[in-house]
Amino acid sequence: MKLKGLITTTAVLAALASSCGGGGSAPQQDLDNELRQALSTYGVSELATLPMHSAEKVALGRALFFDKLLSGNRDMSCATCHDPREAGGDGLSLSVGVGGSGIGHARTLGDGKEFIPRNAPEIFERGGPEFTSMFWDSRVHEDEQGFLHTPAMGMLPQGLDSVLAAQAMFPVTSRAEMRGFVGDNDVLGDPNELAPLADNDFPGMWSSLMDRVMAVEEYRHMFAAAYPAVDEAEFGFQHAANAIAAFEGTGFSFRDTPFDNYLSGDDSAMTDTQKEGALLFYGAAGCARCHTGSALTDLQHYNFMVPALGPGKQDGIDPGFALTSHNDADRFSFRTPPLRNVELTGPWMHDGSFTDLRSAVKHMLDCQDSVHNYDPLTLKSDVRETLNMDQALMDEMLATISPAAAERRELTEAQIDQLMAFLHALTDPSAATEMPALLPASVPSGLPVD
Ligand code: HEC
Ligand code: HEC
Repeated sequence: MKLKGLITTTAVLAALASSCGGGGSAPQQDLDNELRQALSTYGVSELATLPMHSAEKVALGRALFFDKLLSGNRDMSCATCHDPREAGGDGLSLSVGVGGSGIGHARTLGDGKEFIPRNAPEIFERGGPEFTSMFWDSRVHEDEQGFLHTPAMGMLPQGLDSVLAAQAMFPVTSRAEMRGFVGDNDVLGDPNELAPLADNDFPGMWSSLMDRVMAVEEYRHMFAAAYPAVDEAEFGFQHAANAIAAFEGTGFSFRDTPFDNYLSGDDSAMTDTQKEGALLFYGAAGCARCHTGSALTDLQHYNFMVPALGPGKQDGIDPGFALTSHNDADRFSFRTPPLRNVELTGPWMHDGSFTDLRSAVKHMLDCQDSVHNYDPLTLKSDVRETLNMDQALMDEMLATISPAAAERRELTEAQIDQLMAFLHALTDPSAATEMPALLPASVPSGLPVD
């Protein structure tokens, strides 16, 4: 026993000597050891491999994603708000839907129209198994048994590949996003046949859209090529949605980031400052309590008292996750966003109320102080008019603030610099340069791609 103890002590002393003494790479090694330890504590490993899809299915999904044929007035495509030139969002605080003009961050509201109540999120990596919920309020989600919960409930068709595919069933049914309003004519001057349908007639909307799509010969060929085992008469919008999801999953995957390369074992992929920032993120700054796991989100919902912009979803306000959970305790809670490529995806938060990433991070560190010092002049003037910071609303928000959000995390400016450096390590340089190449030159309907 005595001898064994002695050996152990000697071994420990030797180990200590080698980690503290002399050798130039030792502190570096400590930083990496500490960080790799923290990452494993939070279950952060490489993102799972994406599901494979045939090239024909991805090509069909790409055409549909950029084709305005999917909107009632033939004026909006998915890409109007998820623009590859705007890192998969639209660069606006709140999206501009039907009736708007212009593209990307220069888009403006149509006459008499309101903003879409929420910020269009980036859609990076959504094709992976890490994502089991969609939307800021998770109203489309998959439970542990693999059952899909959506606003269409029993009307949702069978055969959807994933929660991402289920999500793609819905933008086309939203009047303000894509479907248009009763009495609207489309851009060619013809009546919009989707608009008169009742708001809960999901099957009616999906089949009318398929009639449109299948009237285009090139689409008939593309569907047949993507789904060789399905008869033409059996195609439903779920086949379109599955193809759109295949394209989104494949096209919007940009994971060649310093962080991902570090996760796959390359110690030199991140700078020391980025590693110090990561240690704060997975340590004292507490970020990884929520931005955890490989996708950097726990997919849970929190109320951070984010300043309220826009028309809201109910009685002029946005109750957030409470709309899905039907629990008042969840009022003003929103799903933790994933952070890959976050430096490219502003404005930030569920309503885009932060136009500067450092301010968004400071909000995370002390949301009550941040709200108190919020500067509306950072907003574009059209959306600024919709800011609601009335005391009554602030009191309501404070009543359900999440305990973890209410905590103050004090960091020095130098530490915030390190955190920012870590957030920059989440950027894939090709996300900015290669994404625009996702835009096709034309789409089967012949409608313009802009
Ligand atoms: C008018 C703008 C607009 C259009 C058009 C639009 N979206 Fe969105 N998209 C949004 C907004 C805003 C949200 C967030 C809404 C919410 O959380 O309630 C969103 C959310 C999403 C999400 C969820 C991401 C996540 O992790 O929560 C996906 C995926 C998505 N859209 C894909 C699509 C697809 C596919 C289409 C076309 C069929 C489309 N969008 C059309 C604005 C738009
Ligand atoms: C208690 C959970 C929680 C903690 C802790 C937390 N976040 Fe968040 N984070 C969220 C939620 C929820 C949102 C969205 C809030 C909203 O829009 O209403 C968010 C939003 C963000 C955004 C904006 C992202 C976007 O796409 O809009 C950034 C950046 C961010 N957090 C970084 C951080 C950093 C850095 C830390 C640590 C200092 C941190 N967060 C701590 C839950 C958390």
